[in-house]
Amino acid sequence: MRFAHQSGAWIVPSRPRAAEATAEKGLPEDLESLRFALEGCQRCNLAAGRTNIVFGVGNPSAEILFVGEGPGENEDLRGEPFVGRAGELLNKMIAAIGLAREKVYIANVVKCRPPQNRDPAEEEIQSCLPFLLRQIEIIKPKAICALGRHAAHSLLKTKASTGELRGKTHDFCGMPLVVTYHPAYLLRSPLEKRKAWEDLKLLAKTAGL
Ligand code: URA
Repeated sequence: MRFAHQSGAWIVPSRPRAAEATAEKGLPEDLESLRFALEGCQRCNLAAGRTNIVFGVGNPSAEILFVGEGPGENEDLRGEPFVGRAGELLNKMIAAIGLAREKVYIANVVKCRPPQNRDPAEEEIQSCLPFLLRQIEIIKPKAICALGRHAAHSLLKTKASTGELRGKTHDFCGMPLVVTYHPAYLLRSPLEKRKAWEDLKLLAKTAGL
């Protein structure tokens, strides 16, 4: 069985393993090879408009993995997730639970920028999801934080709103997953930051921080 906490304690998955959800057995089993496997990716039509593939960044042994939606303009140009205004807020959210950006891992559901920052299409999500699932398998975080509805919907296979999903711990393949508002949404709706803070405290507690 693949999933384990950093402590080495095995978790019995109550849902299919991520690898089973990928229906793709051939993906590499370390982050650098996985990044290499994505080079020149033409699996979906986001390839046509991208400058850089935004694979993910951070500590390969991170205890917490943050999952966003997909790169925006700044991320596309830099090849790194969450480097714009939403990224600045995410960094503050990470700092609020006593961590630095370098201590966690940050990835997105889709690795290439959707044009005009539109929502990723279902077929684009499905093309890219095996790579996120394999990242999760490799990193084995103690807790996952889904930022916004696209990350939550893709991982939890639900259509429920972020408001319904937040505030509790979900099970993702035997790993705890906390949903909170996307930082871009929090920039538009600062009054929701209070709820996001509750979610972050839950995330930190769930990860044993
Ligand atoms: N929003 C996201 O969901 N991901 C990024 O990398 C940047 C903004």
